[in-house]
Amino acid sequence: MPEKPAVLFVCLGNICRSPLAEAAFRAEAKRIGLDADADSAGIGGWHTGEPPDARARAVAKRHGIDIGGYRARKATPQDFRRFSHIVGLDHENLAALKAMRPANATAELSLLLDHVEGRKGESVADPYYGSERDFEITWADVTDGAQALARRIAKA
Ligand code: 4NP
Repeated sequence: MPEKPAVLFVCLGNICRSPLAEAAFRAEAKRIGLDADADSAGIGGWHTGEPPDARARAVAKRHGIDIGGYRARKATPQDFRRFSHIVGLDHENLAALKAMRPANATAELSLLLDHVEGRKGESVADPYYGSERDFEITWADVTDGAQALARRIAKA
């Protein structure tokens, strides 16, 4: 069990949605004075060691955040004890996380948009085959989710 809140955001490739969710969470935690660790990972390991997708780096930059130093990795069963919260970006990610969750898991598992009033059960759509506009939608969605989650953890 981590000593302080530690949140892992998980999408499929860890190069588009989850690094953006991590960045939005770090920004909100800093803004509200929440001392928490954050990381992101993918269900798949195809992009391990790579920086986020150029379009994800660009949308983060347009919103004032540099994610060029992030590197992709695959989610592991050990993450369920290292993190207090594991957050899937869509339903498929959540189902894959449930399937890999070890018996001794301590992390709370959730869907990102479940934290947003009125958006319970919604997935953050995969923008990988989309346009710049889709990445702006992704940014707006992950920002809503990450802000709501940071505020909930800060209140707990
Ligand atoms: P992400 O987007 O899950 O938001 O990082 C994707 C990135 C890469 C792949 C799929 C989704 N891929 O199949 O390589």
